[in-house]
Amino acid sequence: MEVKSGMPTTSTALTPTFYVGNVPVYGDLVLAPMDGISDLPFRQLARALGSAMSYTEFINGVDVIHGHPLLEKRLSFIEEERPVVYQLLDNDPGRLLEAALALRQRNPDIIDINMGCYARSVVGRGAGAALLREPGKIAAIFKSLSQALDIPVTGKIRLGWDENSLNYLEVAHAVEDNGGKLLAVHARTRQQAYGGKVDWEAITRVKAALNIPVIGNGDVQTLEDVERMKAQTGCDAVMIGRAAITNPWIFQRLDRAEVPLETVRLTIHLHLERMTAFYGQDRGVIQFRKFLKKYLTPYHLETERMTHLLTLETSGEVIRYLDEVLKSIIAEQMS
Ligand SMILES: Cc1cc2nc3c(=O)[nH]c(=O)nc-3n(C[C@H](O)[C@H](O)[C@H](O)COP(=O)(O)O)c2cc1C
Repeated sequence: MEVKSGMPTTSTALTPTFYVGNVPVYGDLVLAPMDGISDLPFRQLARALGSAMSYTEFINGVDVIHGHPLLEKRLSFIEEERPVVYQLLDNDPGRLLEAALALRQRNPDIIDINMGCYARSVVGRGAGAALLREPGKIAAIFKSLSQALDIPVTGKIRLGWDENSLNYLEVAHAVEDNGGKLLAVHARTRQQAYGGKVDWEAITRVKAALNIPVIGNGDVQTLEDVERMKAQTGCDAVMIGRAAITNPWIFQRLDRAEVPLETVRLTIHLHLERMTAFYGQDRGVIQFRKFLKKYLTPYHLETERMTHLLTLETSGEVIRYLDEVLKSIIAEQMS
């Protein structure tokens, strides 16, 4: 496997899998936007492995307009990630428009509206999943942004606020009828957060109701899940979040058990190197720990070794100790 190549493996396909407005997308697996996870280094890795689009972590509209010390990092992307989707989060239609026009200057391919974030601080101000309670506002947002922008505007939703307000079909139509060019559906309500049962049947209903492409999302962990979701819902692509942190090779259509340990080792080296190049040595190592823990989950390291690994402070120390640990895992496997 070639993890160093910057070229997405799927872009060699001759026919686009689907279009978002006039933007061709090659491939049917997509890394989910994840705050604190889908930064440039992880997106680059996932995209090279075959994730078909690059969604950023949510970008707060207020930060775009008033500035934020961490904003520049969140907005950074590289050419080989295209199509790049900037995901905007806000509750105020006017501010969303202003922020979207400002972000347009940075030349993303697509602007997406977050209608799924469940965090109290976000819904408390009417943003994220709280927008689902106001389909009229969603319609107004999509109308104004799609008229003002010359790139596609898309949305990512949940099924509704709670089980008593499953208004996803109304919301889906509000998006499509007002110029939205793609809808990603996380098949849970706001109330469910990340627990409870995911309802893929709702994705089937959205796909049947809309003409624009639909991306299905929620609890896809294995290749079997990918194929099952596609067959069951007819969705144009499958979006994978949490499972991709442990197994970014899912975008190469490999289950984690199929990935050789040496590939995992080299990917960890590359990912850490990119993290420290992007964030600087100290912050890069700290930010990398959550990924390292996930990469190593399948090996069930003893707590003591894991704790030591996750408290080392330089990338050199991490690499040296990691290689030692992995060597001993290979030795155990051989014995
Ligand atoms: C740590 C974390 C951060 C997330 N941040 C975002 C975000 O910034 N924007 C968004 O639309 N969804 C966000 N999500 C939701 C995911 O995109 C996805 O909808 C959800 O995790 C369900 O997919 P999964 O079961 O494959 O993980 C986040 C999820 C997680 C676990």
